[in-house]
Amino acid sequence: MPRPITATISVPAMQHNLQQVVASLNTDAISAGRAAPKVWAVIKAGAYGHGLAQGLAGFAAADGLAMLDLSEAQACREAGWQGPLMLLEGFFEFEDISIVDTNRLTVSVHGEEQLRMLEQARPASPIHVNLKINGGMHRLGFEPQAASQAWRRLQALQEKGVVGELGTMMHFSRADDDPLVTRGQLDSFLALTSGMSGPVSVCNSAATLTAGLWTQLPEARPQWVRPGICLYGSSPFAHRSAAELGLRPAMTLEARIIGVQNCQPGSSVGYGHMFTAAQPTRVGIVACGYADGYPRHAGTGTPVTVAGQPSRLLGRVSMDMLAVDLTHIAAAGVGSPVVLWGEGGPSVDEVAEAAGTVGYELLCALAPRVPRRILPGQGSVQNSGEHE
Ligand SMILES: Cc1ncc(COP(=O)(O)O)c(C=O)c1O
Repeated sequence: MPRPITATISVPAMQHNLQQVVASLNTDAISAGRAAPKVWAVIKAGAYGHGLAQGLAGFAAADGLAMLDLSEAQACREAGWQGPLMLLEGFFEFEDISIVDTNRLTVSVHGEEQLRMLEQARPASPIHVNLKINGGMHRLGFEPQAASQAWRRLQALQEKGVVGELGTMMHFSRADDDPLVTRGQLDSFLALTSGMSGPVSVCNSAATLTAGLWTQLPEARPQWVRPGICLYGSSPFAHRSAAELGLRPAMTLEARIIGVQNCQPGSSVGYGHMFTAAQPTRVGIVACGYADGYPRHAGTGTPVTVAGQPSRLLGRVSMDMLAVDLTHIAAAGVGSPVVLWGEGGPSVDEVAEAAGTVGYELLCALAPRVPRRILPGQGSVQNSGEHE
């Protein structure tokens, strides 16, 4: 028997989450009396740990897919995705441009080096470009004072047929927690891009789900949002749960109890004796550890569900095992199911919070050794690419 641990990836949950996002955008669109934006479903990092194939199946109804790796984009084309694909960081070296060209990829152009490479390129067909502007995060993007000149150079390339559709993008740094900073970043972006045209894309999950935010963007320009994490059923906000947002977990990490220990008061559990029993305590040893992607920084008290009952972690997480409290769950024993996060257990965000991190990290860090069980979706029609 294989080690009893499984990650279930639910394509129906991914489909549901995309529908939720689209429904929320439609609600915004109706209140603003304008058309809803198109959606780039972000599938970087192997669809946030859920697997590229599941990203393709789960977000088949999205308008486009966005990622980082050229190989991921190529894999999407090989799998038959006909619609738009965007490289969020653009290309990395000159040779990449021919892959961009062959696979009809939209690229972000965020820096002078990329612009120079594009000026040397002679693609067979014009490349769709989003000029990326640094909106205050200082990660990628042209500084505001350099953006207008970069835009003019891209326009010149457009006239030469090197660049096709030309738009602008920006990435908020605090859409999840600071509306004032976000407002300021949006205002600066709007001022800077007032003379620019083409598609505009600024919203990650948090901004996408902030009612009315994208409707501040100019109606005349085609709108695209770029949600990632919410499509996998994790909340982008610290103070609004995924359940409150109507999202369903796309990943459920489950394992079984493989041993039981009875600890008397004063006896300790695990490396470093980080938990010492104050009263008689039944301890279940679960076949899941940090080598499976469970965070080692999760300590005593981290929520977990054992045989359908809420429980808590005890002591330090080991490489292959962790300990949970069975004292109040008399029926639990060797073989009992334990949900570490996901459907029927705590949310990945609750576990992440207990470990001082975010759901993104846990989802992306699921270890290759954990067997995946895929719940297939149904009824989604893959993007036909009609609007390309
Ligand atoms: C440029 C860009 N757009 C969109 C996203 C999606 O962000 P989120 O997963 O917070 O929705 C990311 C993720 O980091 C990103 O880097």
